[in-house]
Amino acid sequence: MAEHLDIAQGSKEEKYNVLYTQIESVVSAEADMIARMANVAAMIHATFGFWWTGFYRVIDGVLVLGPFQGPMACTRIALGRGVCGTAWKERTTLIVPDVELFPGHIACSSASKSEIVVPIIDSDNNVIGVLDIDSERLATFDECDKHWLEKIASLIA
Ligand code: SME
Repeated sequence: MAEHLDIAQGSKEEKYNVLYTQIESVVSAEADMIARMANVAAMIHATFGFWWTGFYRVIDGVLVLGPFQGPMACTRIALGRGVCGTAWKERTTLIVPDVELFPGHIACSSASKSEIVVPIIDSDNNVIGVLDIDSERLATFDECDKHWLEKIASLIA
């Protein structure tokens, strides 16, 4: 608990630094992908209090909703659709400061104002899923989030 309070009081960089070490430890202790994603979503969500934090997995050529924290979300996203499907198709992290300005954004919740989506790429160079985080504030995510969330995504794969 004291550790959790310490995290909550630091800068974003400091929070990610501590969080990354904790995630490293959790991920190294568990090989199952769903179990890993479930705890990682919970840990990111609890640290930052985002609106929605979760994963979609590539299953039979579609992104299918995986472990998440937050309100219910759409369950299937095609390649190239929305922010998630575009990050998957382009194999790159997308930072969206204002979701209303992103063509084809899939609005799972009208409360979501900005978003970051990080592809999860395995050792065979296949995108196996995405990490999607939504904020109810505009322009929440920056290069600091991208840097750390890409490091976290690489731990999961
Ligand atoms: N907004 C996403 C869909 C997933 S939800 O935000 C959880 C998108 O456009 O891909």
